[in-house]
Amino acid sequence: AETRSDVLVLFGATGDLAHKKIFPALYSMVERNHLKEPIIGIAYDDWTVEKLAERAHDGIKAALGKVDEKVFARLVGLLRYVSGDYRNQETFDKLKEELNGFRHPLYYLAVPPSMFEPVVQGLEQSGGATGARLMVEKPFGRDLQSARWLNRVLHIVFDENSIFRIDHYLGKEAIQNLLYFRFANSFLEPIWNRNYVESVQITMAENFGVQGRGKFYDEVGCIRDVIENHLLNIMLLLAMEPPSGRSAEDLIDEKVQVLKAVRTLTKDDVVRGQFAGYLKEPGVAPGSTVETFAAVRFFVDTWRWQDVPFFIRAGKNLPVRATEVVVRLKRPPLDVFDTIAPGEANYVRFRINPEISISIGARRKQAGDAMIGEQVELSAVDDSAGDMEPYERLIGDAMNGDVRLFTRQDASEAAWRIVGPILDDKSQPAIYEPGTWGPTEAMAKFGPPNGWIDPAK
Ligand code: BG6
Repeated sequence: AETRSDVLVLFGATGDLAHKKIFPALYSMVERNHLKEPIIGIAYDDWTVEKLAERAHDGIKAALGKVDEKVFARLVGLLRYVSGDYRNQETFDKLKEELNGFRHPLYYLAVPPSMFEPVVQGLEQSGGATGARLMVEKPFGRDLQSARWLNRVLHIVFDENSIFRIDHYLGKEAIQNLLYFRFANSFLEPIWNRNYVESVQITMAENFGVQGRGKFYDEVGCIRDVIENHLLNIMLLLAMEPPSGRSAEDLIDEKVQVLKAVRTLTKDDVVRGQFAGYLKEPGVAPGSTVETFAAVRFFVDTWRWQDVPFFIRAGKNLPVRATEVVVRLKRPPLDVFDTIAPGEANYVRFRINPEISISIGARRKQAGDAMIGEQVELSAVDDSAGDMEPYERLIGDAMNGDVRLFTRQDASEAAWRIVGPILDDKSQPAIYEPGTWGPTEAMAKFGPPNGWIDPAK
Protein backbone atom coordinates (compact mmCIF):
# COMPACT_ATOMS: atom_id res chain seq x y z
CA ALA A 1 0.00 0.00 0.00
CA GLU A 2 1.00 3.62 -0.48
CA THR A 3 2.34 5.59 2.50
CA ARG A 4 -0.27 7.88 3.98
CA SER A 5 0.57 11.58 4.01
CA ASP A 6 1.35 12.72 7.54
CA VAL A 7 0.31 16.38 7.23
CA LEU A 8 -2.03 18.38 4.98
CA VAL A 9 -0.87 21.81 3.81
CA LEU A 10 -3.67 23.90 2.36
CA PHE A 11 -2.63 26.77 0.09
CA GLY A 12 -5.45 29.26 -0.36
CA ALA A 13 -6.75 28.54 3.16
CA THR A 14 -8.53 31.90 3.39
CA GLY A 15 -10.15 31.57 -0.05
CA ASP A 16 -13.64 30.88 -1.27
CA LEU A 17 -13.18 27.19 -2.08
CA ALA A 18 -11.62 26.49 1.32
CA HIS A 19 -14.56 28.21 2.96
CA LYS A 20 -17.33 26.56 0.94
CA LYS A 21 -16.00 23.08 0.25
CA ILE A 22 -12.66 22.19 1.80
CA PHE A 23 -13.28 23.01 5.48
CA PRO A 24 -16.68 21.29 5.49
CA ALA A 25 -14.95 18.24 3.97
CA LEU A 26 -12.16 18.31 6.56
CA TYR A 27 -14.75 18.61 9.33
CA SER A 28 -16.62 15.55 8.05
CA MET A 29 -13.36 13.62 7.83
CA VAL A 30 -12.57 14.46 11.45
CA GLU A 31 -16.10 13.48 12.44
CA ARG A 32 -15.70 10.05 10.83
CA ASN A 33 -12.22 9.65 12.32
CA HIS A 34 -10.78 9.70 8.83
CA LEU A 35 -8.39 12.53 9.56
CA LYS A 36 -6.03 12.77 12.50
CA GLU A 37 -3.12 14.47 10.76
CA PRO A 38 -2.32 18.18 11.31
CA ILE A 39 -3.61 20.73 8.81
CA ILE A 40 -1.47 23.75 8.02
CA GLY A 41 -3.42 26.54 6.34
CA ILE A 42 -1.37 28.97 4.34
CA ALA A 43 -2.34 32.19 2.54
CA TYR A 44 -1.30 35.76 1.93
CA ASP A 45 -3.75 37.24 4.44
CA ASP A 46 -2.34 38.37 7.75
CA TRP A 47 -4.71 36.14 9.76
CA THR A 48 -4.31 34.17 12.96
CA VAL A 49 -5.25 30.55 13.41
CA GLU A 50 -8.22 31.78 15.52
CA LYS A 51 -9.50 33.86 12.65
CA LEU A 52 -9.08 30.97 10.24
CA ALA A 53 -10.98 28.70 12.63
CA GLU A 54 -13.80 31.24 12.92
CA ARG A 55 -14.09 31.48 9.16
CA ALA A 56 -14.02 27.70 8.84
CA HIS A 57 -16.81 27.42 11.42
CA ASP A 58 -18.91 29.74 9.33
CA GLY A 59 -18.31 27.73 6.14
CA ILE A 60 -19.06 24.42 7.83
CA LYS A 61 -22.30 25.79 9.26
CA ALA A 62 -23.36 27.10 5.86
CA ALA A 63 -22.52 23.82 4.10
CA LEU A 64 -23.79 21.28 6.61
CA GLY A 65 -26.47 23.23 8.44
CA LYS A 66 -25.03 22.55 11.88
CA VAL A 67 -21.72 22.20 13.69
CA ASP A 68 -21.03 19.69 16.45
CA GLU A 69 -18.74 21.76 18.67
CA LYS A 70 -16.87 18.73 19.95
CA VAL A 71 -15.97 17.64 16.44
CA PHE A 72 -15.11 21.21 15.55
CA ALA A 73 -12.78 21.44 18.55
CA ARG A 74 -10.97 18.35 17.29
CA LEU A 75 -10.59 19.99 13.88
CA VAL A 76 -9.24 23.18 15.45
CA GLY A 77 -6.84 21.06 17.47
CA LEU A 78 -5.27 19.95 14.18
CA LEU A 79 -5.17 23.40 12.62
CA ARG A 80 -2.22 25.76 12.21
CA TYR A 81 -1.76 28.84 10.08
CA VAL A 82 1.16 30.36 8.20
CA SER A 83 0.79 33.67 6.37
CA GLY A 84 2.98 34.92 3.59
CA ASP A 85 3.43 35.86 -0.02
CA TYR A 86 3.85 32.89 -2.38
CA ARG A 87 6.42 34.88 -4.34
CA ASN A 88 8.64 35.27 -1.32
CA GLN A 89 11.00 32.43 -0.38
CA GLU A 90 10.71 33.32 3.33
CA THR A 91 7.13 32.02 3.28
CA PHE A 92 8.36 28.57 2.30
CA ASP A 93 11.16 28.61 4.81
CA LYS A 94 8.60 29.44 7.52
CA LEU A 95 6.44 26.60 6.28
CA LYS A 96 9.40 24.24 6.30
CA GLU A 97 9.93 25.02 9.99
CA GLU A 98 6.31 24.18 10.71
CA LEU A 99 6.82 20.95 8.82
CA ASN A 100 9.72 19.91 10.98
CA GLY A 101 9.31 16.24 11.85
CA PHE A 102 6.87 15.45 9.03
CA ARG A 103 8.11 13.42 6.11
CA HIS A 104 5.19 13.11 3.73
CA PRO A 105 3.21 16.31 3.34
CA LEU A 106 0.24 16.58 1.01
CA TYR A 107 0.24 20.07 -0.51
CA TYR A 108 -3.18 21.12 -1.67
CA LEU A 109 -3.10 24.05 -4.12
CA ALA A 110 -6.53 25.68 -3.86
CA VAL A 111 -5.15 28.72 -5.66
CA PRO A 112 -5.36 30.09 -9.22
CA PRO A 113 -3.15 28.27 -11.77
CA SER A 114 -0.96 31.37 -12.10
CA MET A 115 0.26 30.58 -8.57
CA PHE A 116 1.20 26.94 -9.27
CA GLU A 117 4.67 27.77 -10.53
CA PRO A 118 5.84 30.03 -7.66
CA VAL A 119 4.42 27.65 -5.06
CA VAL A 120 6.03 24.57 -6.53
CA GLN A 121 9.37 26.34 -6.91
CA GLY A 122 9.19 27.70 -3.36
CA LEU A 123 8.54 24.22 -2.03
CA GLU A 124 11.43 22.81 -4.00
CA GLN A 125 13.87 25.49 -2.86
CA SER A 126 12.97 25.10 0.79
CA GLY A 127 13.53 21.35 0.49
CA GLY A 128 9.85 20.74 1.24
CA ALA A 129 9.01 18.75 -1.88
CA THR A 130 10.84 15.55 -1.01
CA GLY A 131 8.50 12.70 -0.14
CA ALA A 132 5.51 14.97 -0.75
CA ARG A 133 2.32 14.82 -2.82
CA LEU A 134 0.67 17.67 -4.68
CA MET A 135 -3.05 18.16 -5.20
CA VAL A 136 -4.12 20.86 -7.68
CA GLU A 137 -7.50 22.45 -8.28
CA LYS A 138 -9.16 23.05 -11.60
CA PRO A 139 -8.92 24.80 -13.98
CA PHE A 140 -5.76 22.98 -14.97
CA GLY A 141 -4.54 25.49 -17.54
CA ARG A 142 -6.57 27.37 -20.16
CA ASP A 143 -5.82 25.29 -23.22
CA LEU A 144 -3.51 22.54 -24.43
CA GLN A 145 -0.46 24.75 -24.55
CA SER A 146 -0.81 26.12 -21.02
CA ALA A 147 -1.71 22.69 -19.61
CA ARG A 148 1.46 21.25 -21.16
CA TRP A 149 3.48 24.09 -19.74
CA LEU A 150 1.97 23.57 -16.27
CA ASN A 151 2.74 19.88 -16.46
CA ARG A 152 6.34 20.65 -17.31
CA VAL A 153 6.56 23.01 -14.33
CA LEU A 154 5.08 20.46 -11.92
CA HIS A 155 7.17 17.59 -13.26
CA ILE A 156 10.42 19.38 -12.51
CA VAL A 157 9.59 18.84 -8.85
CA PHE A 158 6.94 16.11 -8.57
CA ASP A 159 6.62 12.87 -10.47
CA GLU A 160 3.29 12.06 -12.12
CA ASN A 161 2.25 9.57 -9.43
CA SER A 162 2.54 12.28 -6.78
CA ILE A 163 0.30 14.74 -8.64
CA PHE A 164 -3.45 14.74 -7.98
CA ARG A 165 -5.45 16.86 -10.45
CA ILE A 166 -8.94 17.32 -9.06
CA ASP A 167 -12.21 17.07 -10.89
CA HIS A 168 -14.70 16.94 -8.05
CA TYR A 169 -17.29 15.26 -10.32
CA LEU A 170 -15.23 12.08 -10.23
CA GLY A 171 -15.74 12.04 -6.46
CA LYS A 172 -19.54 11.99 -6.78
CA GLU A 173 -21.34 8.83 -5.79
CA ALA A 174 -23.64 8.91 -8.82
CA ILE A 175 -20.75 9.26 -11.21
CA GLN A 176 -18.89 6.34 -9.72
CA ASN A 177 -22.09 4.44 -10.23
CA LEU A 178 -21.91 5.01 -14.00
CA LEU A 179 -18.80 2.89 -14.04
CA TYR A 180 -20.14 0.36 -11.58
CA PHE A 181 -23.54 -0.06 -13.23
CA ARG A 182 -22.03 -0.50 -16.67
CA PHE A 183 -19.52 -3.13 -15.72
CA ALA A 184 -21.24 -4.96 -12.89
CA ASN A 185 -24.24 -5.92 -15.06
CA SER A 186 -24.33 -8.15 -18.10
CA PHE A 187 -27.59 -7.01 -19.72
CA LEU A 188 -26.23 -3.65 -20.77
CA GLU A 189 -23.16 -4.65 -22.73
CA PRO A 190 -24.92 -6.25 -25.75
CA ILE A 191 -26.88 -3.06 -26.45
CA TRP A 192 -24.24 -0.53 -25.42
CA ASN A 193 -23.01 0.28 -28.91
CA ARG A 194 -23.86 1.81 -32.27
CA ASN A 195 -26.24 -1.02 -33.15
CA TYR A 196 -28.70 -0.07 -30.43
CA VAL A 197 -27.82 3.39 -29.16
CA GLU A 198 -29.30 6.28 -31.13
CA SER A 199 -27.70 9.10 -29.15
CA VAL A 200 -26.36 10.09 -25.78
CA GLN A 201 -27.36 13.32 -24.05
CA ILE A 202 -25.69 14.80 -21.00
CA THR A 203 -27.33 17.86 -19.48
CA MET A 204 -26.00 19.99 -16.66
CA ALA A 205 -28.52 22.71 -15.90
CA GLU A 206 -28.09 25.29 -13.18
CA ASN A 207 -30.95 27.61 -12.23
CA PHE A 208 -28.67 30.36 -10.99
CA GLY A 209 -26.26 32.81 -12.60
CA VAL A 210 -22.63 33.49 -11.80
CA GLN A 211 -23.28 34.28 -8.12
CA GLY A 212 -20.62 36.89 -7.46
CA ARG A 213 -18.01 34.89 -9.40
CA GLY A 214 -18.29 37.21 -12.43
CA LYS A 215 -14.60 37.95 -12.66
CA PHE A 216 -13.57 34.28 -12.49
CA TYR A 217 -16.35 33.16 -14.79
CA ASP A 218 -15.64 35.81 -17.41
CA GLU A 219 -12.10 34.50 -17.80
CA VAL A 220 -13.33 30.95 -18.12
CA GLY A 221 -16.80 30.53 -19.69
CA CYS A 222 -19.02 27.48 -19.73
CA ILE A 223 -16.86 25.21 -21.91
CA ARG A 224 -13.80 25.53 -19.68
CA ASP A 225 -15.77 25.66 -16.45
CA VAL A 226 -17.73 22.42 -16.73
CA ILE A 227 -17.59 20.82 -20.19
CA GLU A 228 -13.85 20.24 -20.67
CA ASN A 229 -13.69 18.50 -17.28
CA HIS A 230 -16.88 17.44 -15.43
CA LEU A 231 -19.07 16.56 -18.39
CA LEU A 232 -16.39 15.13 -20.61
CA ASN A 233 -15.47 12.84 -17.72
CA ILE A 234 -19.06 11.63 -17.54
CA MET A 235 -18.95 10.93 -21.27
CA LEU A 236 -15.77 8.87 -20.87
CA LEU A 237 -17.36 6.67 -18.26
CA LEU A 238 -20.27 6.03 -20.62
CA ALA A 239 -18.09 5.39 -23.65
CA MET A 240 -15.05 3.54 -22.30
CA GLU A 241 -14.31 -0.14 -22.85
CA PRO A 242 -14.42 -2.49 -19.87
CA PRO A 243 -11.16 -2.19 -17.93
CA SER A 244 -9.23 -5.41 -17.53
CA GLY A 245 -8.73 -4.85 -13.81
CA ARG A 246 -9.58 -2.51 -11.02
CA SER A 247 -6.23 -0.85 -10.52
CA ALA A 248 -6.00 2.88 -11.06
CA GLU A 249 -3.88 2.29 -14.12
CA ASP A 250 -6.36 -0.14 -15.67
CA LEU A 251 -9.18 2.36 -15.28
CA ILE A 252 -7.32 5.44 -16.36
CA ASP A 253 -5.76 3.68 -19.37
CA GLU A 254 -9.25 2.86 -20.68
CA LYS A 255 -10.39 6.45 -20.24
CA VAL A 256 -7.39 7.67 -22.15
CA GLN A 257 -8.11 5.15 -24.93
CA VAL A 258 -11.56 6.71 -25.43
CA LEU A 259 -10.19 10.23 -25.24
CA LYS A 260 -7.79 9.43 -28.04
CA ALA A 261 -10.76 8.42 -30.20
CA VAL A 262 -12.86 11.52 -29.50
CA ARG A 263 -12.87 13.71 -32.57
CA THR A 264 -11.41 17.20 -32.18
CA LEU A 265 -14.34 19.63 -32.23
CA THR A 266 -15.03 22.22 -34.88
CA LYS A 267 -17.17 25.36 -34.66
CA ASP A 268 -20.04 23.43 -36.30
CA ASP A 269 -20.20 21.18 -33.26
CA VAL A 270 -21.24 23.89 -30.84
CA VAL A 271 -24.00 26.37 -30.07
CA ARG A 272 -22.98 29.09 -27.62
CA GLY A 273 -25.32 31.24 -25.59
CA GLN A 274 -25.18 34.03 -23.04
CA PHE A 275 -28.01 34.84 -20.65
CA ALA A 276 -29.58 38.26 -20.95
CA GLY A 277 -28.19 40.40 -18.13
CA TYR A 278 -24.79 38.70 -17.95
CA LEU A 279 -23.01 41.90 -19.00
CA LYS A 280 -24.38 43.67 -15.93
CA GLU A 281 -22.83 41.14 -13.52
CA PRO A 282 -20.02 42.59 -11.38
CA GLY A 283 -16.62 41.59 -12.72
CA VAL A 284 -17.80 40.88 -16.27
CA ALA A 285 -15.92 42.84 -18.96
CA PRO A 286 -17.96 45.35 -21.02
CA GLY A 287 -19.17 43.72 -24.24
CA SER A 288 -17.95 40.28 -23.10
CA THR A 289 -18.63 37.46 -25.57
CA VAL A 290 -18.02 34.72 -23.00
CA GLU A 291 -20.58 31.91 -23.14
CA THR A 292 -22.71 31.01 -20.14
CA PHE A 293 -24.35 28.19 -22.09
CA ALA A 294 -23.01 25.69 -24.58
CA ALA A 295 -24.38 22.69 -26.39
CA VAL A 296 -21.69 20.55 -27.96
CA ARG A 297 -21.76 17.47 -30.22
CA PHE A 298 -19.01 14.91 -29.88
CA PHE A 299 -18.19 11.81 -31.89
CA VAL A 300 -16.15 8.89 -30.67
CA ASP A 301 -14.34 7.23 -33.57
CA THR A 302 -14.33 3.62 -32.44
CA TRP A 303 -16.06 0.46 -33.66
CA ARG A 304 -18.41 0.71 -30.71
CA TRP A 305 -19.51 4.31 -31.21
CA GLN A 306 -19.03 5.25 -34.87
CA ASP A 307 -21.72 7.83 -35.89
CA VAL A 308 -23.45 7.89 -32.50
CA PRO A 309 -23.68 11.53 -31.43
CA PHE A 310 -22.87 12.41 -27.84
CA PHE A 311 -24.47 15.72 -26.93
CA ILE A 312 -23.40 17.73 -23.92
CA ARG A 313 -25.43 20.75 -22.86
CA ALA A 314 -24.65 23.00 -19.90
CA GLY A 315 -25.62 26.46 -18.78
CA LYS A 316 -26.26 29.00 -16.08
CA ASN A 317 -29.74 30.44 -15.47
CA LEU A 318 -31.62 27.52 -16.99
CA PRO A 319 -35.06 26.46 -15.72
CA VAL A 320 -33.90 23.84 -13.19
CA ARG A 321 -30.85 22.63 -11.32
CA ALA A 322 -30.26 19.12 -12.61
CA THR A 323 -27.53 16.99 -14.08
CA GLU A 324 -28.52 13.88 -15.98
CA VAL A 325 -27.60 11.49 -18.74
CA VAL A 326 -30.01 9.93 -21.20
CA VAL A 327 -28.81 7.12 -23.45
CA ARG A 328 -31.55 6.77 -26.03
CA LEU A 329 -31.94 3.48 -27.85
CA LYS A 330 -33.10 3.02 -31.42
CA ARG A 331 -36.72 2.13 -32.11
CA PRO A 332 -37.67 -1.51 -32.48
CA PRO A 333 -37.15 -2.66 -36.11
CA LEU A 334 -40.89 -2.95 -36.65
CA ASP A 335 -43.53 -1.03 -34.69
CA VAL A 336 -46.10 -3.83 -34.61
CA PHE A 337 -48.66 -1.87 -32.61
CA ASP A 338 -47.99 1.38 -34.39
CA THR A 339 -48.04 3.46 -31.23
CA ILE A 340 -44.51 4.58 -30.63
CA ALA A 341 -43.92 8.28 -31.17
CA PRO A 342 -40.52 9.34 -32.49
CA GLY A 343 -38.03 9.54 -29.67
CA GLU A 344 -40.11 7.36 -27.40
CA ALA A 345 -39.44 3.74 -26.49
CA ASN A 346 -36.29 2.76 -24.71
CA TYR A 347 -33.65 4.71 -22.90
CA VAL A 348 -31.43 4.49 -19.86
CA ARG A 349 -31.43 7.57 -17.66
CA PHE A 350 -28.87 8.35 -14.98
CA ARG A 351 -29.85 11.21 -12.67
CA ILE A 352 -26.79 12.62 -11.01
CA ASN A 353 -28.03 15.77 -9.36
CA PRO A 354 -29.95 16.75 -7.25
CA GLU A 355 -31.51 13.33 -6.82
CA ILE A 356 -29.66 10.17 -7.72
CA SER A 357 -31.34 7.45 -9.72
CA ILE A 358 -30.92 5.01 -12.56
CA SER A 359 -33.98 4.38 -14.71
CA ILE A 360 -34.98 2.46 -17.77
CA GLY A 361 -37.61 3.87 -20.09
CA ALA A 362 -39.90 1.26 -21.60
CA ARG A 363 -43.29 0.77 -23.28
CA ARG A 364 -46.13 -1.21 -21.82
CA LYS A 365 -49.72 -1.80 -22.80
CA GLN A 366 -52.40 0.41 -21.31
CA ALA A 367 -55.29 -1.42 -19.69
CA GLY A 368 -58.22 -1.82 -22.09
CA ASP A 369 -59.27 -3.54 -25.31
CA ALA A 370 -56.86 -1.85 -27.66
CA MET A 371 -53.17 -2.61 -28.01
CA ILE A 372 -52.23 0.93 -27.07
CA GLY A 373 -49.06 1.54 -25.18
CA GLU A 374 -47.75 4.00 -22.67
CA GLN A 375 -44.32 5.06 -21.56
CA VAL A 376 -43.11 3.92 -18.15
CA GLU A 377 -39.89 4.42 -16.24
CA LEU A 378 -38.46 1.64 -14.10
CA SER A 379 -36.36 3.41 -11.50
CA ALA A 380 -33.91 2.63 -8.79
CA VAL A 381 -33.71 5.74 -6.66
CA ASP A 382 -30.78 6.13 -4.29
CA ASP A 383 -31.77 8.41 -1.43
CA SER A 384 -29.16 7.21 1.03
CA ALA A 385 -28.42 10.06 3.38
CA GLY A 386 -24.94 10.60 4.77
CA ASP A 387 -23.37 10.26 1.37
CA MET A 388 -19.76 11.36 1.26
CA GLU A 389 -19.21 14.74 -0.35
CA PRO A 390 -16.80 14.63 -3.31
CA TYR A 391 -14.17 16.77 -1.60
CA GLU A 392 -14.15 14.53 1.43
CA ARG A 393 -13.57 11.43 -0.64
CA LEU A 394 -10.93 13.05 -2.86
CA ILE A 395 -8.87 14.59 -0.06
CA GLY A 396 -8.90 11.21 1.69
CA ASP A 397 -7.80 9.46 -1.50
CA ALA A 398 -4.97 11.90 -2.05
CA MET A 399 -3.79 11.49 1.57
CA ASN A 400 -3.68 7.75 0.87
CA GLY A 401 -1.93 8.15 -2.46
CA ASP A 402 -4.85 6.66 -4.41
CA VAL A 403 -4.83 8.22 -7.89
CA ARG A 404 -7.89 6.38 -9.24
CA LEU A 405 -10.27 9.37 -9.18
CA PHE A 406 -7.80 11.96 -10.40
CA THR A 407 -6.94 13.19 -13.88
CA ARG A 408 -3.69 11.92 -15.28
CA GLN A 409 -1.50 14.11 -17.45
CA ASP A 410 -2.33 12.36 -20.73
CA ALA A 411 -6.07 12.56 -20.00
CA SER A 412 -5.88 16.23 -19.15
CA GLU A 413 -3.96 17.06 -22.32
CA ALA A 414 -6.27 14.98 -24.52
CA ALA A 415 -9.31 16.82 -23.13
CA TRP A 416 -7.76 20.17 -24.04
CA ARG A 417 -6.90 18.88 -27.52
CA ILE A 418 -10.56 17.98 -28.11
CA VAL A 419 -12.10 21.30 -27.07
CA GLY A 420 -9.23 23.50 -28.34
CA PRO A 421 -10.88 24.80 -31.52
CA ILE A 422 -14.08 25.89 -29.75
CA LEU A 423 -12.38 27.88 -26.96
CA ASP A 424 -12.12 31.66 -27.00
CA ASP A 425 -14.62 32.21 -29.80
CA LYS A 426 -14.95 35.99 -29.84
CA SER A 427 -18.12 36.03 -31.93
CA GLN A 428 -21.32 37.12 -30.24
CA PRO A 429 -23.09 34.20 -28.52
CA ALA A 430 -26.87 34.00 -28.94
CA ILE A 431 -28.69 35.71 -26.07
CA TYR A 432 -31.23 33.67 -24.07
CA GLU A 433 -33.67 34.72 -21.40
CA PRO A 434 -32.86 33.49 -17.90
CA GLY A 435 -35.09 30.57 -17.02
CA THR A 436 -35.18 29.13 -20.56
CA TRP A 437 -33.33 26.18 -22.14
CA GLY A 438 -30.79 28.34 -23.95
CA PRO A 439 -30.93 30.21 -27.27
CA THR A 440 -34.14 28.95 -28.86
CA GLU A 441 -33.45 29.38 -32.53
CA ALA A 442 -29.93 28.03 -32.48
CA MET A 443 -31.00 25.09 -30.36
CA ALA A 444 -33.91 24.22 -32.62
CA LYS A 445 -31.43 23.60 -35.45
CA PHE A 446 -28.96 21.68 -33.35
CA GLY A 447 -29.47 18.65 -31.21
CA PRO A 448 -29.97 14.93 -30.97
CA PRO A 449 -32.14 13.17 -33.53
CA ASN A 450 -35.66 13.25 -32.04
CA GLY A 451 -34.88 16.19 -29.83
CA TRP A 452 -33.61 17.13 -26.42
CA ILE A 453 -34.93 15.62 -23.25
CA ASP A 454 -35.21 18.21 -20.50
CA PRO A 455 -34.63 17.03 -16.95
CA ALA A 456 -37.85 17.16 -14.95
CA LYS A 457 -38.45 20.05 -12.59
C1 BG6 B 1 -17.73 23.97 -10.51
C2 BG6 B 1 -17.99 25.11 -11.45
O1 BG6 B 1 -16.58 23.27 -10.89
O2 BG6 B 1 -18.84 23.09 -10.50
C3 BG6 B 1 -19.28 25.83 -11.09
O3 BG6 B 1 -16.90 26.03 -11.40
C4 BG6 B 1 -20.42 24.85 -10.97
O4 BG6 B 1 -19.59 26.84 -12.05
C5 BG6 B 1 -20.03 23.69 -10.06
O5 BG6 B 1 -21.55 25.53 -10.45
C6 BG6 B 1 -21.12 22.64 -10.00
O6 BG6 B 1 -20.80 21.67 -9.04
P1 BG6 B 1 -21.93 20.78 -8.36
O7 BG6 B 1 -21.17 19.78 -7.56
O8 BG6 B 1 -22.75 21.72 -7.52
O9 BG6 B 1 -22.74 20.20 -9.47
